[in-house]
Amino acid sequence: IDPRLDLVQEINRLKKEKNAVILAHYYQDAEIQDIADYIGDSLGLSQEAAKTDAAIIVFAGVHFMAETAKILSPTKKVLLPDLKAGCSLSDSCPPHLFAKFKEQYPDHLVITYVNCTAELKALSDIVCTSSNAVQIVESLPKDQKIIFGPDKNLGDYVKKKTGRDLVLWNGACMVHEIFSQEKIDRLRLQFPDAKFIAHPECEEHILRQADYIGSTTGLLNYTIKDPASTYIVATESGIIHQMQKANPQKTFIPAPPNNACACNDCPHMKLNTLEKLYNAMRFELPEIDLPLDVINRARKPIERMLDISA
Ligand code: 13P
Ligand code: SF4
Repeated sequence: IDPRLDLVQEINRLKKEKNAVILAHYYQDAEIQDIADYIGDSLGLSQEAAKTDAAIIVFAGVHFMAETAKILSPTKKVLLPDLKAGCSLSDSCPPHLFAKFKEQYPDHLVITYVNCTAELKALSDIVCTSSNAVQIVESLPKDQKIIFGPDKNLGDYVKKKTGRDLVLWNGACMVHEIFSQEKIDRLRLQFPDAKFIAHPECEEHILRQADYIGSTTGLLNYTIKDPASTYIVATESGIIHQMQKANPQKTFIPAPPNNACACNDCPHMKLNTLEKLYNAMRFELPEIDLPLDVINRARKPIERMLDISA
């Protein structure tokens, strides 16, 4: 790429020229969020992907999110700036092993967290996101037996909130398992008026201390409505960009990780760059391609989720 190129201007030009829409997750770099047509959590992004009339969806997020967009809008071209932008949580649940796991519980309904492959969604009865997992479990009869995967932390949280006994797959997100309880305790002593807010992908001992637990959109909205002036934020650091924009006078402190070498950035999300976004739009590559039978099987459980969340 010519370093003199104004990438923001070029991306905006390509958006118009190609009738493309840029959907970005809150964990993307600030400069990508700032050029997006829509920024949201996984539920908002899938709702947006389902209703857009753009010809091309440029998904600034990770692979499973772009796949979900393709499943919901199969006739559209879905581009992901870096095809290697995966997800540790999705990787923690290979579909062939999950299929074996599921066989052990033939009378159970399968709910999968959206952070999984299209293949895994195709093995599910209902998909959920962090913002509707509790609502989806509660929409089912009390005696319904349920398998929940792949995130054991979100599963534990849903168990606690609903009082249901879910069979959990043992998966987790590498970013949400790094937080140090001890360091958070110390920060809270240092900032006694600060609120501690956390994503439900965090471990139980971290969630136990939280003043508020929610999806990225839930966390952002909480910081807008809540009167506190300081927040310790236990999730990926990208969300702080929108928190700071919505609340310029407030202070946001990323929750500290256990290991000094670790950080709250998702290495998968951060593979996308403005340069890759520009190239993806210019060359209309890399494109998400899924077998038709996977699209058809995976669409049902996603649509079931969207109906319950409507
Ligand atoms: P939400 O934005 O839906 O809360 O998901 C968080 C996440 O980890 C996405 O990878
Ligand atoms: Fe996956 Fe965690 Fe990264 Fe989200 S933050 S994409 S769950 S690894």
